[in-house]
Amino acid sequence: MSLRKSDSTGSTRLTTRPARNHGDVATFFDSCASQYAEQHGDAQQLLDYRLGLLRSGANLTAADEVLEIGCGNGLHLLALASDYGRGLGIDLSPRMVDAASQRSSETPWADKTSFAVDSAETLSTIADASVDVALCVGSLEHMLDQGAVLNSAFRVLRPGGRLVCLTLNGASLWYRYLAPALSVDTRQLSTDHYLSEAELEHLVAAAGFEQSLFDHWTFIQRGDMPRSIAVLSDGLDRLGDACRIGFFRGGLRVRAIKSSSA
Ligand SMILES: C[S@@+](CC[C@H](N)C(=O)[O-])C[C@H]1O[C@@H](n2cnc3c(N)ncnc32)[C@H](O)[C@@H]1O
Repeated sequence: MSLRKSDSTGSTRLTTRPARNHGDVATFFDSCASQYAEQHGDAQQLLDYRLGLLRSGANLTAADEVLEIGCGNGLHLLALASDYGRGLGIDLSPRMVDAASQRSSETPWADKTSFAVDSAETLSTIADASVDVALCVGSLEHMLDQGAVLNSAFRVLRPGGRLVCLTLNGASLWYRYLAPALSVDTRQLSTDHYLSEAELEHLVAAAGFEQSLFDHWTFIQRGDMPRSIAVLSDGLDRLGDACRIGFFRGGLRVRAIKSSSA
C-alpha cells in the first residue's frame, strides 16, 4: 500500500508523504482504505505466511480476547477469527475502521469482532487488563510514539497476556545502509520510523514486559520499489534466512509476555 510515481525507466518509486501528526497519518490511511491491497507479492501467500507468524507467536486459544492495534481493514484479525473467542481492532483511520466493519459483516465472525477508531498510543477505548493478546502487524513503524504504543499494549493486557508485533527491521543492511546510500526513501510517511531490534527491545522492557523474544521474518518491499531493488532484497533475505543473519532480513518480530504477577 503506497503512493507511487513512475521513474524514467517506467518502474515505480515510493513517494514519501509529509506528515507531522495523527491527523496527517489518518488522512493518508483514509486515502488508502478503499483500494487497500497487497503490493509486496502474492496476497494469499503473504497472508498465510503472516498468519503463521502470528499463530506461532501468540498461541491463540478459543477463550482469548484479541486486540489488533492498527488493524487497517481487518485483514489479519478476521482471518484469525476461528482461533480466538473475541476480536477487537482499533485504527486511527475512520475509513479503515469502516472497511474493517464492512468486511466483518460479510463474514461469519461479525458477532465476535468489533472495530473502533482509536489511537494506538492511548488505546482509550480499551480497559486496563482486558485482553489476552495484542497484535500489531505492519503498523508500529507508522506510529508516532512507539514507546507510548507499547506502554498502552502493556496496560490493556491481562497478566500473562501476549504481545506479538511484526514490524520492519530498521537496523538491516537494506534499511539502514543500502537504501540511504542509493538515495531510496523507503518511508510511506515522513514520520515513519523503522526500529532496530535494540530500540524495540528497550521500548518493550521499558513498557514493563519481562520476557521477550526477537526474530526475523521475510519482508520485501516490492510493489513500491524498482524491480532491481526487490531482487536485491530478495537475495539478501534468502541468504539471511539460510545463514541466520538477521542483519540481512527486512522484517522484525517481537513476542513478549506480561508477567502473571504484573
Ligand atoms: C500498513 S497499515 C497495516 C494495517 C493492518 N495491520 C494490516 O496488516 O493489513 C497501517 C495501519 O496503522 C494505522 N495507524 C497508523 N498510526 C496509528 C496510530 N497511531 N494509532 C492507530 N492506528 C494507526 C493506519 O491507519 C493503518 O491502517
